[in-house]
Amino acid sequence: MRHSELDSFPKHFLWGSASAAYQVEGAYQDNGKGLSVWDTFVKQPGTTFKNTNGDVAVDHYHRVKEDVALMAELGLKAYRFSIAWSRIFPNGNGDLNQAGLDFYNQLIDELLKYSIEPIVTIYHWDLPQALQDEYGGWESRQIIEDFTNYAKVLFDAFSDRVNYWISLNEQNVFITHGYLLGTHPPAVHDVKRMFAANHIANLANASVIKAFKKGGYKGQIGPSFNYGPAYAFDSNPLNVLAKIDTEELMGFFWLDVYATGKYPRTVIKQLEKLQLAPVTTEADQELLACGIPDFIGLNYYQTATVKASTTDFFSGEMKMNNSGKKGTSTEMEIPRVSKFVKNPYLEQTNWDWTIDPIGIRVALRTIESRYQLPVLITENGLGEYDKLENGEIHDPYRIEYLQKHLHEIQEAITDGVQVLGYCTWSFTDLLSWLNGYQKRYGFVYIDRDETSERTLNRYKKDSFYWYQKVIETNGEHL
Ligand code: NOJ
Repeated sequence: MRHSELDSFPKHFLWGSASAAYQVEGAYQDNGKGLSVWDTFVKQPGTTFKNTNGDVAVDHYHRVKEDVALMAELGLKAYRFSIAWSRIFPNGNGDLNQAGLDFYNQLIDELLKYSIEPIVTIYHWDLPQALQDEYGGWESRQIIEDFTNYAKVLFDAFSDRVNYWISLNEQNVFITHGYLLGTHPPAVHDVKRMFAANHIANLANASVIKAFKKGGYKGQIGPSFNYGPAYAFDSNPLNVLAKIDTEELMGFFWLDVYATGKYPRTVIKQLEKLQLAPVTTEADQELLACGIPDFIGLNYYQTATVKASTTDFFSGEMKMNNSGKKGTSTEMEIPRVSKFVKNPYLEQTNWDWTIDPIGIRVALRTIESRYQLPVLITENGLGEYDKLENGEIHDPYRIEYLQKHLHEIQEAITDGVQVLGYCTWSFTDLLSWLNGYQKRYGFVYIDRDETSERTLNRYKKDSFYWYQKVIETNGEHL
């Protein structure tokens, strides 16, 4: 459709940008903060690109005012950030660290000073190490209570000023990488333990949403999910079935639980055959039914294209890139539903991520038709090598990427999808969990690399000024 025939973005559309505590804050031991599993994982040699870590990250902790002033200059209507659990509870439970609450109070107040809506992620992967040590983190049901208590402390402290909450960020990613691929903490490679931990995470998610609703707090809550729709390679019916298998296992297995409180029957049947199905008690079912969110948070980066596979449902490999090097891949063992193939219509980034703007429309349409829930796009963006030259960064590739995705979002809104807002990933450059600082996503360039913190000065990229215009015109000028 031509731009002029499209619906306008809604009047109060949340034009935003996002970050996560471990990736930006630094100050990893300041003012009473306890260690998180990421603080310790990255210290084991070889776990990340050039052994980079977030000890200093981009020093957002000490530069909050400067960073929020830049957000205001850009004109952001919303900023999504996460709270480091171990700043609030250094041991995950027990004694509360008031200095942790003070830090986020300061950030929230600073945002509100400029009328920027805070979107708060309660959990973005940085589990307190103490809980991992005490009872094995996500593998113990004890975490349901601890996570809920922690969330309630946040609701009590901030819900007078915060209207949007994200319960878990990308459960599918932290669970599969943490318990199957072994590339995230706790670096386990065990499919059985993965499904068990995932079920507990589902219960914890539902418990927090239930507590939010029961507590009568104002505002809305939902999980953020990394959803990349799957395409069949072609119209061969077997490949179409492979597409369905893939989407159900990699998408609806989580989304259905969030949105309906139930696992998809077809996946459960497969898992039962393999003795991998989560043990779901009646009490679990009741809890899951109480965890229905107000919206689905969508983190969209790419789609997958699949062909039917002749190997078993659960004995294959998937290509993934964690080497941090341009265009290289490492093979990882993961359950297989089908074979991932290159889509001949689509290009890829320097980190082999498929670029597919129409895919975000497909994702939005799928969520709408399957769940009829509003969607808050909580992440979308392009990781690239940027170059600072004479204080400037020319990033037309990022502008093109975001522009095309926003166009498709507008198409989806015109189709009838309820989209609450759009947060780019990310506002400033930040630490990529496994890829160091070379893979940059921000509107604001940070002068640092893997080996040196350099000046940590902030520089506005061309995309900063482009997004400023987009927001100013409520998306009229993409
Ligand atoms: C999703 C995660 O939420 C975020 O932390 C990460 O940096 C981006 N994807 C890019 O990989």
